Amino acid sequence: MSSGDIRSEVKKRRTFAIISHPDAGKTTLTEKLLLFAGAIQIAGSVKARKASRHASSDWMEIEKQRGISVASSVMQMEYRDCVINLLDTPGHQDFSEDTYRVLTAVDAALMVIDAANGVEPQTIRLLQVCRARNTPIITFVNKLDREVQEPLDVLSEIESHLGMEVVPFSWPIGMARRFGGVFNLRANHMRVFKPGQERHGEDEIIPGLDNPVIAERFGEPFEKAQEEIELLNAAAPEFNLDLFLAGKQTPVFFGSAINNFGVQEVLDALVDLAPAPGPRAALQREVQPDEPKFSGVVFKVQANMDPAHRDRVAFVRVSSGHFKRGMKLKVSRTGKEIRPNNVVSFLSQRRELLDDAFAGDIIGVPNHGILQLGDVLTEGENLQFTGLPFFAPELFQSIEVKDPLRTKQLRTGLTQLGEEGAIQVFRPHMAGGMMLLGAVGQLQFEVVAHRLKTEYGVEARLSSSRFNMARWVTAKDPKDMKKFIETNAGNIAYDVVEATAFLASSPAQLRVAQELNPGIEFHALREHG
Ligand code: G4P
Repeated sequence: MSSGDIRSEVKKRRTFAIISHPDAGKTTLTEKLLLFAGAIQIAGSVKARKASRHASSDWMEIEKQRGISVASSVMQMEYRDCVINLLDTPGHQDFSEDTYRVLTAVDAALMVIDAANGVEPQTIRLLQVCRARNTPIITFVNKLDREVQEPLDVLSEIESHLGMEVVPFSWPIGMARRFGGVFNLRANHMRVFKPGQERHGEDEIIPGLDNPVIAERFGEPFEKAQEEIELLNAAAPEFNLDLFLAGKQTPVFFGSAINNFGVQEVLDALVDLAPAPGPRAALQREVQPDEPKFSGVVFKVQANMDPAHRDRVAFVRVSSGHFKRGMKLKVSRTGKEIRPNNVVSFLSQRRELLDDAFAGDIIGVPNHGILQLGDVLTEGENLQFTGLPFFAPELFQSIEVKDPLRTKQLRTGLTQLGEEGAIQVFRPHMAGGMMLLGAVGQLQFEVVAHRLKTEYGVEARLSSSRFNMARWVTAKDPKDMKKFIETNAGNIAYDVVEATAFLASSPAQLRVAQELNPGIEFHALREHG
């Protein structure tokens, strides 16, 4: 394939994550995006899957569903002349470090906000990651068919939480029973709201803000919207594509996902505004998406249905070139060669064997542990991409094995699960101290205990730990580091790659350590490599 052909494939790609607080309507919107893109025929399939996932609160059931969630966490669809890759970020129940890492594999994010609740905690955590990476964000304010907050209030809340300018592209006319539709501020027309889950062909469009037909038909809510729009015209910033692409401005759309309303605008915005895959930084050089040679990075590893076989699927984000089924690939970390024939794509949620993929696409490579988080696959070149983050855990538990004769198995299991990124494992500096597990989501502990038992035959005992914060530490002067470790020996631990961490039991303890040790740098995030 010529580089021109590769370039035109790359230009078509839009790869984004969908983020929200649970219940804001992410599943509903995802389903409607697939529906509008023609990737599914009837509403209900994504939703049904979510229901079956959430009906079960215990891990055993989640385990059974794991194969399904592999398939539904990445969805590819074609819309207009684009190929859209949509990556799901799990909600609170499934929350783990995976969620954060998914955000490193995308070029844009779609944030769904419940207009009644405004910006909620889970969204804020995810947004912090987007902000740190300057990921462009498109905002969808959902549930206007309900009694919700005033749209102007929602806007200012988004602005203050995001720390970026908000630019409404549409404006709601009324809400709840008096929700008349949205006014498209760019096209200067109103799209009339019609409730219901069916797609009823073309929506009714009425042109012009000063159109007496609209004023008469929608009455007081329209007058109010008109005043607000005038206010916005005077006060809101102009949309600037460069500022959006730099993560400094977010376009905002209003609608009601359940009623299929406002969904089309969001899909069009993804195609028209969201960026195609760009260059990616590796330690050796910058990799261009339209280079002829294939490269990709593992950003997520998910154990698959059959634990007995240690069967895993590595999720690889293609960074450059043209992936062809059966091609020979090299794992940069180990130099090992693989020739995966059963690589899968995630076309409209069915796992399908994949023939071709380009920058921005996500491919699933089944393997038995040869691929780890952060691994880079190439056609031979030695590359290490930067930027795959490990976040300082917020929850800690001590772990010991019930049967001391199985200590070795515990260590093997923890090393492998640590490498896979299922949990972070810390070995204490003090000899004889218990191993510590660190997580960002409670479910991670349950998953690890369960997998240790089923995959490594280890009954582990988890107990609460006095720590609840961690910071990786570095120092310019090794002498400072040595002294710091000696004076804080009880709080020092090492992670799977032997990076040194300081564990604290409170923010105050961390603050004191920082004040007493100006020669030490404390990091809440460690990048792979
Ligand atoms: P999530 O993935 O972000 O957790 O949210 P999800 O789509 O599951 O939506 C959460 C709830 O909000 C669902 O109701 C869903 O039907 C509802 N919802 C989504 N979009 C809209 C909307 O535009 N308007 C209104 N009024 N509701 C909306 P539920 O009662 O939890 O589930 P269900 O019984 O409807 O399936």
